[in-house]
Parts: sequence; C-alpha cells; structure tokens
Amino acid sequence: NAMLSWQRTSYHFQPEKNWMNDPNGPLYHKGWYHLFYQYNPDSAVWGNITWGHAVSRDLIRWLYLPFAMVPDHWFDVNGVWTGSATFLPDGQVIMLYTGDTDNHVQVQNLAYPANLSDPLLLNWVKYENNPVMVPPPGIGHKDFRDPTTAWHANDGKWRVAIGSKVNTTGITLVYQTTNFTSYELLDGVMHAVPGTGMWECVDFYPVSTTDTNGLDTSFNGPGIKHVLKASLDDDKKDYYALGTYDPSNNTWTPDNPKLDVGIGLRVDYGKYYASKTFYDQNKQRRILWGWIGETDSENDDLLKGWASIQTIPRTVVYDKKTGTNVLQWPVEEVERLRSNCTEFNGVKVGPGLVVPLNISSATQLDIIATFEVDKAALEATFEADVGYNCSTTGAAVRGTLGPFGLLVVADDLLSEFTPVYFYVSKDIDGTYRTFFCSDEMRSSKASDVNKKVYGGMVPVLDGEKFSMRLLVDHSIVESFAQGGRTVITSRIYPTKAIYGAARAFLFNNATGVSVTASLKIWKMDSVDLQQYPFDSDDV
Ligand code: FRU
Repeated sequence: NAMLSWQRTSYHFQPEKNWMNDPNGPLYHKGWYHLFYQYNPDSAVWGNITWGHAVSRDLIRWLYLPFAMVPDHWFDVNGVWTGSATFLPDGQVIMLYTGDTDNHVQVQNLAYPANLSDPLLLNWVKYENNPVMVPPPGIGHKDFRDPTTAWHANDGKWRVAIGSKVNTTGITLVYQTTNFTSYELLDGVMHAVPGTGMWECVDFYPVSTTDTNGLDTSFNGPGIKHVLKASLDDDKKDYYALGTYDPSNNTWTPDNPKLDVGIGLRVDYGKYYASKTFYDQNKQRRILWGWIGETDSENDDLLKGWASIQTIPRTVVYDKKTGTNVLQWPVEEVERLRSNCTEFNGVKVGPGLVVPLNISSATQLDIIATFEVDKAALEATFEADVGYNCSTTGAAVRGTLGPFGLLVVADDLLSEFTPVYFYVSKDIDGTYRTFFCSDEMRSSKASDVNKKVYGGMVPVLDGEKFSMRLLVDHSIVESFAQGGRTVITSRIYPTKAIYGAARAFLFNNATGVSVTASLKIWKMDSVDLQQYPFDSDDV
C-alpha cells in the first residue's frame, strides 16, 4: 500500500517495525549518543514493554542495537518501563527505571552497564536486590513511576524525583541516596498542582539565565532557574514551568503561579508526550527528546506494521529575551541533511491569496520563513479577535490580522494541505497577542484519522518579524515559532499530497493586512538506519 509506506519518515528516529513510546535514559558515552525507548518487539500496539536501544555519532544517523533490557524478572515482568540515566563523577552510569511487577505494582529498579569501557554499552545488568524503591504509604501501586536523572544536592547526597498523584493532585516525590541501592523518601513533596492528575515522566533540570550553554543536572548556584516538567496522564500532554529550586526545603516554586506545571506552558502544543532531557557533555548543551504518537487508526498501525516516531532532538535553553519560557531548536546536526536550497525574497501576499512555492516532491524539507506585516494596517486596526485561541477556529476562518503562514504537504489542487500559521489578535487597549497554530482538519481525505487544530500563544517582541521553522518529514511536521518559543508537532496522513504530488504554498487569510514573506527551503536527505552488527567503516 503506497499510501501507508509513504508515511514512514526518512530522517526521524523510528524502529524498523512495531510499537515505540517514551524515549528513555538518553546519554552520551565515549563518542556515541545512546537512545533507549519503550518498545513492543511483537506488535504495532503497546505491550510487552522492552528497552529498545540505538546509538548515533551525531544524533541523526542511528544504528539499532540489541535490546538493552527485556521483561524477565518478577520486578519488571509486566514491563521494563520508563527511566533515566545518571553519570557519577567517576564515570559510572546508573540507570533507574520503573518495573511493572508480577503483581502489577510499579517499583523502581536499578541497572548498570556490564562493561563501561564498551562504547556501545551493549550489556546491562539488573541489580540483584531490585526493586530499590516501592510505593510509599499513601501512594497507589499504579501511581509511582518514571524516575528522573539524579542530581547531587548541597548535602552531598543524590536525589531523584518520581511522579505520582494523591487523589487528583499531581505530585513530585523526591528520594535521597548515597549508593543508589538504598533510598530515603524526603518529607513532603517537591511540588504539587491540584487537578492535574497523575504526573508521568517528570523531568527536572537547571537552565542558565546568563549563558547559552546547557548545564549538568546537578548544577546549582546563582544565575540559574529550574525547569519542572510533567506529562499529564489524564490528557496526554507535556507541561513545564520555570521556577526556583530550594534543596534545603526540598521545594520548587514556579516563577508565575498562574503558569504552573499542568496549567500553563506546554512543551509542544501538538501530538507530543513523555519528553525527557539529558545533558550532552560532548557539546555542553541540554537536549530534549519527545515521543510523537500516531493519530491514525490502530488498524492502520497494524497494517503498516509500526507506530510512533521520536522528534528530531532539540536543544533547550532559557529565553533571555522574554524571561518567561524556554527555547527549543532542532540540534545543529540536522542541518547536515540540507541540500538544494531555494530562496524566496520579499514575496508579497495580499489578503485572501495563496501563492505556490516552486518546490517539487515537498515531503522532506527544512523551511525557514519570516513574515512582515504591514505596520500601518496593524496600527489602524482598533480591535481584532480578542479571546482568540488556536482551537477556536482553523485556518479557514478569516480574521482581520490572521491567519497567515504556510500550507505544507499539499497537493496542487489543494484537496489536502496542512496550514501552519500566525494569527494576531488586538485588544482595544492596543495590546497584541500572537498565536501560532497548526490545522490538520484538511490534511487528509481519510476519515479514520484524528484531526485537530493545535497551537498556543507565542511572544513576539517589539521589532521582531514573525518567524517560523518547519521540519517536514512525510507524516510529521515539527513547527517552531520565534526561535522556538512555541512549538507544535503534527502527524498527518495525506492520501493525495504524497510522493511527487506534495507541494508547499504561502497563504494569507487575513482580511485586513498584507504580509511580505521571505523563505529558505532545503530538501532534506534521507538517513539509512542499520542493524547491529554493522560495518564499522560506515559509521
Ligand atoms: C508514559 C508511560 C510511562 C510508563 C511508560 C510505559 O507514556 O505511560 O508513565 O513508564 O509509558 O510504557
């Protein structure tokens, strides 16, 4: 089936076949980036969860390795679930992960590499006295999972956070340890947000407010903030907030309580979940992975034989200009796949117009686009679309100051297309709010596909143009606005706009303004993924 095989990506990480979910234990060791992932060896739906393992020298060209861990002990026989890696100062690697036990209790287990001098870390040993943590009193047996990377606190001990809930309040528990085999639960919770439900895949890390480099997870001191992220089991979305960590009280406090974890900023406003960062000591940066699920039917997943993709890894830094958010950006290594740059300069798009971009087979692209909006018209507008948000309407509904942007994975006749766009609203007091959205409603003629309008607000500062970057790779579109302040990932399943028929367009559906667009569009090369044992000359 040509339609189903077109959906497989060409430069994103995905297993050769079957089901994948969360990224696990990412780390850099002896020249190789390691990615582990939740994997079902037997089918394209969730189950039999095993740790898949792949390595890469550049975060883009991956090699599949044998499974790192399989569900073969009483303490993980119902699944080797999500976990994180920690480097000790002497170079040892500690892996903590959740096991679903023979009795379906969620426990935390310890594993470590059998041979640290092996750059590929092929063999993993499960600690013989596992589990090392069991659900404490008052915590449900099925509400205790996904240990973070550990950090070294000011008292000389290590700490690790674990997500949970009490009634409908999402919480972060913190344990301390000196040896990673015995742990003590700290009093209270590091943070709790009522109404947010079970917190999965908590992530906790420092960001520098002064420098652009990433920080080791244990770093603390002046000039930093801490990001706390939770994946909300109830609505399958990743939320984060910036705040201040106080290790002596075991508390983290959000900068803005109105934008707390689970009620404020999303890591990605699209189809995206269970994200996890690691500190890349090779290039002094913090890198974010995220799981992109499917939005087609389970039956189609079984037919195509695979489900899920990982995002292109993204660097994550604090946004010094706004002070309110982080910036996510595809790692620089992905730019090595660029070829055939086509430039468009100063293309004027009047109200209601669609302009074709002369790009053939537009299924693997890296697009950078800026839009300038006629300033006089903006200022002359008294009030527009107060109360707008991306899910109010899709790109088809016209407002005074939006939507304008790109149509990607479109066919010539525009029977299928995915708009990624800005939409500006203006209050009577003269303040603007800009939204960045992605509209899947007309992305596919198929009826058994779940289509949504995604997006959120994006800060646009005085003097800035509207800017977006898009990574298009067959059935996935990763979209970054204003240097990565707001990010949206879409999965799309076109039936017509595939292979040689895929095109891209500029569009302006605003009634009140013209926009002037400038773009650079690169074709992206495909990446060959190989199975171990591989020819070392090729890697
Ligand atoms: C998140 C999650 C984790 C769990 C794992 C199981 O998607 O549910 O909480 O450890 O997946 O595969």
